[in-house]
Amino acid sequence: MNGPRSGPVSNRDQATVKSDTPSTAVGEVTTIVSGGSRGLGLAVAQRLLQRGDRVATFSRSGSAALVALAAKHSGRVHHEQLDAADSDAVRRFVGNTVDRFGRVDHCVANAAVAAEGILATMADADIDAMLTVNLRGAIVLVRECVRQFLAQPRSLPDAGAGSVVMVSSVVAARGSPGLAVYAATKAGLEGFARCLAREVGPRGIRVNAVAPGFLATDLSATLSPSDRERIVRRTPLGRLGDTADIVGAIDFLTGPGAAFVTGQTLTIDGGGAA
Ligand SMILES: NC(=O)c1ccc[n+]([C@@H]2O[C@H](COP(=O)([O-])OP(=O)(O)OC[C@H]3O[C@@H](n4cnc5c(N)ncnc54)[C@H](OP(=O)(O)O)[C@@H]3O)[C@@H](O)[C@H]2O)c1
Repeated sequence: MNGPRSGPVSNRDQATVKSDTPSTAVGEVTTIVSGGSRGLGLAVAQRLLQRGDRVATFSRSGSAALVALAAKHSGRVHHEQLDAADSDAVRRFVGNTVDRFGRVDHCVANAAVAAEGILATMADADIDAMLTVNLRGAIVLVRECVRQFLAQPRSLPDAGAGSVVMVSSVVAARGSPGLAVYAATKAGLEGFARCLAREVGPRGIRVNAVAPGFLATDLSATLSPSDRERIVRRTPLGRLGDTADIVGAIDFLTGPGAAFVTGQTLTIDGGGAA
């Protein structure tokens, strides 16, 4: 794992994408997961490393859990500290991942921020942060990955050319007071996924989204006990979601079992949205 603010391994020009390098063994895949320092992103990174992927991730801060994961899977984790709002840094990160691992096969656009508050009193800075990180940051990351998918040979002759999973939220479709701007960014990602799936499907690239219900992570830590009880009460499966509930879906959507699945949003909320 790179050290804090260790900087990129090397920079690349915007127009430069990399074809495969001799260091990549046939069939080895690399998955980019944004926001892998904690919460869902960390859990996804853990699962994908277990299944044999090399994982590249970024976040603004490091974490002890990610350091431990990188130590356990020595040489198979690439981490950079960067802000998803910095498009140049995101572009360099994808280039550095290719420099290190030879290729990129899957992209899980997971990093996001949620500023809760009623719209009438919400500051421009909070609106900008959510639009910039959740929407533009994710789109720029996916654009860089798609460029790479198009430039490189497939990991195996019968493998797809690449896959993308956008991490949305049930609030995009269901709504929730205090989360209108956050929901707008997530609804934007779902529309983005549907359109992009049609655009790049003919090139063998799949694009899907997952829409989790509330999960017990830092992002939902502000949920009051009464809101938590209300959500559990109206959820047919009778509990809040756990990151493990979402990880399985992302494992599926980035795996060979989903070879004919694209343009879909999979809601994972214990049946609450039904
Ligand atoms: N938790 C829920 O109830 C819930 C429900 C539905 C959907 N989701 C979605 O699931 C995804 C993961 O959420 P989570 O609950 O795991 O959140 P989390 O625990 O807050 O983790 C967010 C991750 O994204 C990174 N991140 C945030 N802002 C960033 C930025 N500007 N640049 C780079 N990295 C950034 C964080 O690291 P740093 O802070 O160090 O940058 C962290 O690694 C998000 O897309 C979220 O919208 C969550």
